[in-house]
Amino acid sequence: MMTRGTAGPSSSARDMVLAHLRQRGTLPDPVSLPVGIPGVTVRQDGRLAVDGYLAAAEPRRLSDLLRAGGHNPVYLADRAAAAASRRHGYDPLLYWAVRHFLPPRQLDTERCVPAGGPDGNLPHGPGYLLGDLVVYQPGVLPGGEPYRSTGHWNLPGQLEVFQTLTGRVAMLVAGHTVGGKPFVYQQVCGPGEMMAVPFGIWHTSYALDGPAAVFNVTTDLGTGEAGRPAALPHGGQSHGTGTRDGKYRRAEPLAITARWHGARLEHVGSPAALRAWGQPAGAPRTDWLAGWLACGESLADLHLYGAPTRLTALVQAAREAYHQDWPVNEGFHPA
Ligand SMILES: [Fe+2]
Repeated sequence: MMTRGTAGPSSSARDMVLAHLRQRGTLPDPVSLPVGIPGVTVRQDGRLAVDGYLAAAEPRRLSDLLRAGGHNPVYLADRAAAAASRRHGYDPLLYWAVRHFLPPRQLDTERCVPAGGPDGNLPHGPGYLLGDLVVYQPGVLPGGEPYRSTGHWNLPGQLEVFQTLTGRVAMLVAGHTVGGKPFVYQQVCGPGEMMAVPFGIWHTSYALDGPAAVFNVTTDLGTGEAGRPAALPHGGQSHGTGTRDGKYRRAEPLAITARWHGARLEHVGSPAALRAWGQPAGAPRTDWLAGWLACGESLADLHLYGAPTRLTALVQAAREAYHQDWPVNEGFHPA
């Protein structure tokens, strides 16, 4: 029987309908998590809300992961099992991506350049810092991999820094130092933690606890500024354009991935890849990014409000680390 609340019949009917829809699973859990940016929350279903409005985001599903790379498909722990599940209708949402979540920021001024229209009309290329937000869902793929990103090779002169806002992610990173030494490692980032990745690396993110919201900034410094493009993958061609699309140029994906083995991650890969790269180590011992943010400051704050001198210093620190053979110069923590 319907009962009426003290706020009046229409309020009571609204509550009753909402309760009915929740009971039926039609409404998501209303609990939202703050992500460190005023007015922005991530809902339990992983959708982003900005001042109560749902943000337009690109969904990435298992079907996208299976399709990615075309003739150079993404290496999966068990592609056959994932493909068979997909054929039977399994196509879970792996993550939401909000590209250009923040307006591009000019590196040498305090100016942000908001989008000029619905089509974007955004500046890009060297001289701009770009900000994305990705919300990974919790879950496990057939084959045991945590829900994950597709993975890609960064440009040789691309500086990229990540901050986990909620949840916990592991990032698998592979490449070559300026001196040509190969490396592959995995770094885990919890809420508030940041990581920078070396120039020109392969990286894939895995959701260990989710929803996991990860904000990142990136800028293309150009190949000349970062040194020779030593980090290109074996056999890969540098056909990045220097534009944002160039970031997603495809060479052969890293044929190593992470999967759950009980409560910990283990790494599996093709015999050739494991011979070439070895087993992933833990995070680099040298963390030049540690202590970069002031207490209570977020990476998004730095993007929006940081003085140009701080951004210049960030770029300079990344270059210096790179030229000191980071990340292998002081070795890695145990995996
Ligand atoms: Fe990247």
